[in-house]
Amino acid sequence: MIKKIGILTSGGDSPGMNAAIRAAVRTGLSYGIEMYGITNGYRGLINREIHRMDRSSVSDIVNRGGTILKTARLPEFKEEKVLLQAVQILKEEGIEALVVIGGDGSYRGALDLTKHGINCIGLPGTIDNDIASTDYTIGFDTALNTIIESVDKIRDTTESHSRCSLIEVMGNRCGDLALYAGIAEGAEIIITPDFGMSDEEVFSTLKEMREKDANKRAIVIISEKIYPDIHAFAKEVEKNTGFTTRATVLGYIQRGGAPSAKDRVLAGRMGSFAIDLLVQGKGGRCVGVRGMNLVDYDIYEALAMKKVTNTSMMELVRKTNK
Ligand code: F6P
Repeated sequence: MIKKIGILTSGGDSPGMNAAIRAAVRTGLSYGIEMYGITNGYRGLINREIHRMDRSSVSDIVNRGGTILKTARLPEFKEEKVLLQAVQILKEEGIEALVVIGGDGSYRGALDLTKHGINCIGLPGTIDNDIASTDYTIGFDTALNTIIESVDKIRDTTESHSRCSLIEVMGNRCGDLALYAGIAEGAEIIITPDFGMSDEEVFSTLKEMREKDANKRAIVIISEKIYPDIHAFAKEVEKNTGFTTRATVLGYIQRGGAPSAKDRVLAGRMGSFAIDLLVQGKGGRCVGVRGMNLVDYDIYEALAMKKVTNTSMMELVRKTNK
């Protein structure tokens, strides 16, 4: 029976990571396993930032955003030398297995560690929902709700001035935050990496709206990393459509805040399931949710999966915006 398990968070933080940590730690303790937190992700592992965790270490965190274990990005973890250093430290500390909460990059590290004898289970922690091996990532729902709350406010002032608002949301080349938020807001235009629109199409759609009704306002939701400068694009929109146009980049507000109920429950289920898998002697796997059910995949296979483009949701946008 496994005796010591470590847990770390890596990459961009996301609301719900704490709920996953709590569930993993308490499930591990319920099996009689010693649980260890590793601060600052893989970088903290290399620096031996490891501490024992008990039940009270995870009290009152289920409702908190961010991650109590802190997080970091360590691209050098791909290097064999750095990886071997991590393996050595874990062996010296007697930590036989790890739960890694993060995105794709974090999964790669987990797979490499597993190949060197440290069983790892990856949990999808990112607001971007850009992991193909799960329907939803931990933090996506909260970020989406934060976006909706912010856009609701922006639309009040946009409406009062009959303006056009361009709102840029996160997603790191995955369009889900923009697509779901656009549908939830009934946005006039949604632009994502999968569902692009030429500048000319954007201009003509808005111009037509403006010409039909001068008191109309328009909400345009756009994924980040499409326009190099959304404020410069707002000026172009204004020049070509007659709409007074403003741009808002929502930014890091999307990564913070108390996790939604949905994220807390998802994170709790996944955190506990990760420990069950380790207890069964499994490693090199990552957890996902398909419909209502938790699933686990080989990380190597999961990393090769392609995220399915959500054409039915875009079809919904087309039909309801006509
Ligand atoms: O992956 C989460 C994310 O918030 C992305 O949406 C965004 O592009 C990126 O992280 C920002 O990264 P950083 O924290 O390094 O600025």
